[in-house]
Amino acid sequence: MKPIKAGLLGVGTVGAGTFHVLQRNQEEIRRRAGRGIEVAMVAARDLERARRVIGLKGGGEDVEVVGDPFAVVNNPDIDIVVELIGGYELARELVLQAIANGKHVVTANKALLALHGNEIFEAAQAKGVMVAFEAAVAGGVPIIKALREGLSANRIESVAGIINGTTNFILSEMRDKGLDFGTVLKQAQELGYAEADPTFDIEGVDAAHKLTIMAAIAFGIPMQFASSHIEGISQLQAVDIRYAEQLGYRIKLLGITRRTVVDGAEGIELRVHPTLIPSARLIANVEGAMNAVLVKADAVGTTLYYGKGAGAEPTASAVIADLVDVTRLATVDPYQRVPHLAFQPAELADLPILPMEEIRTAYYLRVYVQDQLGVMADLTRILAEAGISIDAVLQKEPGEKARTDIVIITHQTREKFVNAAIAKIEALSTVVGKVVRIRLESLG
Ligand code: NDP
Ligand code: HSE
Repeated sequence: MKPIKAGLLGVGTVGAGTFHVLQRNQEEIRRRAGRGIEVAMVAARDLERARRVIGLKGGGEDVEVVGDPFAVVNNPDIDIVVELIGGYELARELVLQAIANGKHVVTANKALLALHGNEIFEAAQAKGVMVAFEAAVAGGVPIIKALREGLSANRIESVAGIINGTTNFILSEMRDKGLDFGTVLKQAQELGYAEADPTFDIEGVDAAHKLTIMAAIAFGIPMQFASSHIEGISQLQAVDIRYAEQLGYRIKLLGITRRTVVDGAEGIELRVHPTLIPSARLIANVEGAMNAVLVKADAVGTTLYYGKGAGAEPTASAVIADLVDVTRLATVDPYQRVPHLAFQPAELADLPILPMEEIRTAYYLRVYVQDQLGVMADLTRILAEAGISIDAVLQKEPGEKARTDIVIITHQTREKFVNAAIAKIEALSTVVGKVVRIRLESLG
């Protein structure tokens, strides 16, 4: 059978990785896919650089390199468009145009899918083409395949994961090597982990994009990125990382989505924030740019998926797995294929995303106080009045101006009760500044 022809939009970190792995493993990939997969065309802005990149390890001689990505999308000889440009608007136009032209699409672009996925999948469904996106979540870890196909017997209860390699790399390097934030971020950029705009990584936006996609597939709901709660690591202080360790926890930037019942009605939690995790948990020991996703489901129980979450070849591994899937399934009747969001399009549920006030979790609270008689009693009284029970307390020796930190770990409670208690604590005359609040998940 003739090779299937792919057009790459972008030969940056992921595009170059995809090109080189396809060249290197072409015979193995052909044996799996049932026919060869050939990159016939590549689009980039810097054509010289693009030619250098694809010529680097040989095999790029017959590839047409163009500056206009629409030339790839509109070329009738191209069967699959691989979108590796990133960003929202141009990528959206290219993908919709490729679909309109009857081409299958593979993309690693989580930002695009989290914001425009509903529109893109609807267009693909109507046209009978596939849009595959394994690389969009957790790099080389096949979590989309696991959630969408491997766990399809289950009612999924929750998904929680370290799904941004850059921030996990930053937190690990700062803790282990004592390096400062800026230095480690620069390393993450040089290693190709960070987004074009690294504030997406640092402020939790990239993790929220990925979490939005996983929630849609896990629960059979549309993409609802705008309703996600997002906090990144830029406000995290070294002192809290230290205290957390003393209390037996690690702080990770976690994406969490779970079914929750509030006042008898079911809703979905969708949140990204720094989170304390007991240090004994496997996921607390995931370091560097590695990703890990913990899925709880009713039949299988808890499963954990771990691997490289960013970088050229790990991400290429996921892009090419999609290329193989699309090549195998291209001839299958569209209604017999795996649905884009795991559930049949007409079966998507309209479960609401819960407001943050309604979520239930435990908390780490750090209060900076004037070390005076009765201060601890005031704190415990306020928490007790709010119905919040305490799990552990850490009080440090008084330092400058007889002030000290009191750290309180609570049991699970509702976010709105903690908000009310924090407001009362901050109003005490013995309390200096703001209370630091970090959520805690036991993930047991
Ligand atoms: P890069 O910035 O390294 O590469 C982007 C590529 O797109 C470059 O080749 C660039 O060309 C090309 N490009 C950008 N704009 C245009 C345009 N207008 N016309 C033609 N070509 C254009 O990005 P990455 O490879 O890191 O990321 C690509 C996608 O993969 C993003 O969606 C990202 O979120 C996602 N992703 C990235 C991962 C990673 O580890 N890096 C992991 C998982 C997903 P030129 O170089 O000539 O400017
Ligand atoms: N910037 C992303 C990360 C790339 O650091 O995880 C992988 O999606």
